[in-house]
Amino acid sequence: MNIVIQNMLERRSVRKYKPDQISDEDLNIILEAGLYAPSAGSRQSAIIAVCQNAELNAALGKINKAAFTGRNSTETAYISKDQPSIADNAAIQSGFYHAPTVLTLFAPKNFLYSVADCCVAAQNIMLAAHSLGVGSCMVARAEDTFSSELGRRLQKEWGIDETYEAKIHVTLGYPADAAPPTAKPRKERRIIRVGA
Ligand SMILES: Cc1cc2nc3c(=O)[nH]c(=O)nc-3n(C[C@H](O)[C@H](O)[C@H](O)COP(=O)(O)O)c2cc1C
Repeated sequence: MNIVIQNMLERRSVRKYKPDQISDEDLNIILEAGLYAPSAGSRQSAIIAVCQNAELNAALGKINKAAFTGRNSTETAYISKDQPSIADNAAIQSGFYHAPTVLTLFAPKNFLYSVADCCVAAQNIMLAAHSLGVGSCMVARAEDTFSSELGRRLQKEWGIDETYEAKIHVTLGYPADAAPPTAKPRKERRIIRVGA
């Protein structure tokens, strides 16, 4: 199979990481892939904050988890059995799953396509990561995480203008499990061929 397609089909959300930090070489390639994502109006407005400070990631991950108001999983309705999310396992302490690297994508508050810009960059990042053997997981609630006292303070310290808002996180780290997580079967009737 075409290796680009194979990479897309095989990428899974990884939530169990080795404690070792990812190499700068891998990180730089992954970030470069993020920078080359499409952007609305070609504005390149998304900014990627890279945090490898374990203490800060733990504190922010705790805030991120506390902001989770979704439904907890049941035996039949769950996110992942192999790589449980905070919805699957209430004992998980961090919304960032103790990943050694946490990216936060920021974009202008008052721009219609900020979420889309950050999400396409996140997808490039996750696919690049997977191609290099780096696990990743897209994590929501970035707005809540960075509207906390700590988040606001860090945004200022990191020199990210207050007109920007955190839109999405991507966690990165080498997968702890040798076996890749399994994909759920694809739901049916999600493609509608029209106009014939
Ligand atoms: C917009 C978006 C938000 C997500 N937020 C979270 C999250 O907060 N926590 C988490 O563990 N996974 C999150 N995920 C990952 C999904 O749970 C995951 O993509 C889904 O279960 C399918 O699994 P796969 O990525 O392995 O194919 C998010 C994915 C998307 C697209």
